Amino acid sequence: MGKSYWLKAYTSRTDAFIAIIIDHEGVATQDEFLLRTVAALRNSQKLHTSGLIAKLQAMFQDVEVGGGPIKVRVALQQRSPASLLGDTLKALSESASSPVLICMDEVPLAILNIANNEGQQSAHELLQTLRMLRQTESGIRWILAGSIGFHHVLTACGTTTGDLNDLDNLPLGPLTTAEGTELAQRLLLGIGRHATDASVSRFVERTGSIPYLLHKVASLLDDGRSTPVSTAEFDGAFEEFIDDPDEFQSFAHLLTRLEPNYGDDAKLAGEILNGALSVENTWRDVGTLRTDVGEPERFDSVLTNLISDHYLEQRGRRVRWRYPVLQYIWARRRMIWDRPS
Ligand SMILES: Nc1ncnc2c1ncn2[C@@H]1O[C@H](COP(=O)(O)OP(=O)(O)O)[C@@H](O)[C@H]1O
Ligand SMILES: [Mg+2]
Repeated sequence: MGKSYWLKAYTSRTDAFIAIIIDHEGVATQDEFLLRTVAALRNSQKLHTSGLIAKLQAMFQDVEVGGGPIKVRVALQQRSPASLLGDTLKALSESASSPVLICMDEVPLAILNIANNEGQQSAHELLQTLRMLRQTESGIRWILAGSIGFHHVLTACGTTTGDLNDLDNLPLGPLTTAEGTELAQRLLLGIGRHATDASVSRFVERTGSIPYLLHKVASLLDDGRSTPVSTAEFDGAFEEFIDDPDEFQSFAHLLTRLEPNYGDDAKLAGEILNGALSVENTWRDVGTLRTDVGEPERFDSVLTNLISDHYLEQRGRRVRWRYPVLQYIWARRRMIWDRPS
């Protein structure tokens, strides 16, 4: 959808904040969570004159600008990384001359990894520390992003939404049709091809203005030719993207992440998604859907998660796939729908 890209674009342009991105992808311990944060602060040029580094040197080794891997000072290694994180961000808010915006990416996955790796207590402690910091450090603003929702993580942390209820949801992506059209036109320029407005608008519609898909299809059309791209050629490249295992690989999590996120409910989640499929993308009655999948006990909670995960959208007692393009890709990859001949 473009979350990480948006964070990069926004933080590089805003003058309202000292904006810092901290990518927690792959983090699996509290210690790594802390050291990723400290490294991001060290690398932020806007903080170099703030006196922050000097403060951090009291807690960390090798934290000077351009230094190597950062380590917690031996004398502090008894303290929990979550509490050192608290001290680090307090030092940040004391030294920064204007409001700081911390954009943490892939936070829910990091918390889930920590829960699986170090236990529920450790993950919960980190969630609570982050919440405490959001409340006490008024000079720091936060954006938390990630490719899975926090609702998949809370059970693993033995907690409820209470640790998050000060956060608001920011709607993001796909691009608007106008933005998708601009991206499509620029991608065509990049591959040295052109197309009529009608073909471009078909291209944008097929991909649902999801930037990742626009890039992928455009790259398949980058075959050295400079002939205009016809509507049929756009459609063909889109279908090719879905069918080609190598091309599709990086998008496959759409299909595979049900397993880790839904656990024992993954099969039911898949059945509900199948039951909600509709070529015309019409709304389905929830009662009918429940009957169709055999009235399982877990139906309501799985449906709720599918809506929270933006697979489905709800209107009263009816649901449907939220993004027709993802519905199409799902049904094609599961071989429920066929490629048009
Ligand atoms: N506004 C945009 N303009 C052009 N390309 C974009 C835009 N947003 C995202 N992309 C493309 O889509 C890809 C996926 O976006 P990304 O931000 O990594 O998604 P997410 O973090 O939501 O998974 C990026 O690598 C980039 O190529
Ligand atoms: Mg991302």
